[in-house]
Amino acid sequence: MGVERRHVPVLLKEVMQALRPKRGQVVVDCTVGLGGHSAELLRKGVRVIGLDLDPANLEAARDRLEIQGGDFELRHANFAGLPTVLGELGLEGVDGVLADLGVSSPHIDDARRGFSYRRPGPLDMRMDPTRGKTAAELVNTMGEEELAKAILELGNEESAPQIAQLIVQRRPLRMTQELMALVCKARDFTLERAAGAKLHPAARTFQALRMLVNRELPNLERLLAVLPACLKPGGTAAILSFHSGEDRLVKQAFRDGERSGAYAKTSPEPILATAAEQERNPRSRSAKLRWARRHKARG
Ligand SMILES: C[S@@+](CC[C@H](N)C(=O)[O-])C[C@H]1O[C@@H](n2cnc3c(N)ncnc32)[C@H](O)[C@@H]1O
Repeated sequence: MGVERRHVPVLLKEVMQALRPKRGQVVVDCTVGLGGHSAELLRKGVRVIGLDLDPANLEAARDRLEIQGGDFELRHANFAGLPTVLGELGLEGVDGVLADLGVSSPHIDDARRGFSYRRPGPLDMRMDPTRGKTAAELVNTMGEEELAKAILELGNEESAPQIAQLIVQRRPLRMTQELMALVCKARDFTLERAAGAKLHPAARTFQALRMLVNRELPNLERLLAVLPACLKPGGTAAILSFHSGEDRLVKQAFRDGERSGAYAKTSPEPILATAAEQERNPRSRSAKLRWARRHKARG
């Protein structure tokens, strides 16, 4: 199956309604992934700067965007460093910034990346395999309390203390399946029962570790802090989040920005996928889109 058919961009129509892209404008897609949202931006005649932490996704995006055609440039960069990227490109500000947070389908589908509790692979989980500590390095070195706190806060996992205790007793861990089995044991699930569960008992722990490995909340906080200065007057930021902690940060930053005058207007409520989209694309079920627009230039 081709990338075009396999990857369905979430809330595509709603993201375009928020960004209102016009021919000749410049939009940064902070999380180009497989190029789904970016392809639509190119269709609207926009110049797209696409960033991603994952070099393999950048290559997949390049293939897709070359087929689409248009003015685009891709960079292997963390969106936390957006001002540096704009500086390197000689841009003082852009008309739109999009971030579609989290992982992409190849991260989960490729067992060698170590994101999936369903596929045996090295316990890695780095979106950028060229730098940073792997999930194995973190679980094998962190203190028990620190681990429990991360699993509780990032995974909303109530059994976090039992899981952290068992990790510390049994480490070193090297493979996804070792961690998965250990979480099942800490949560009193047999592997058979776990495999049939609606929400796999290891899902929340894997999510927490992924967010920790990739510094997802600190990166988002940094992006939110620099966003207003990266937008031209009248420019819009749109952020799609899939985790309550992320959505809280976005909501708060946009609200504070509206109060302080950094933004003229923000989305009053999070925009959710329609029932039809949720049916078609299960990933859209937990998506929340928020946008913020800067004041237009005076005079
Ligand atoms: C949900 S996918 C984006 C999908 C994309 N919107 C599409 O339609 O194909 C999220 C992407 O963001 C990337 N990513 C996550 N955190 C990032 C960060 N801090 N800086 C740059 N890219 C990041 C991931 O590697 C992944 O490819």
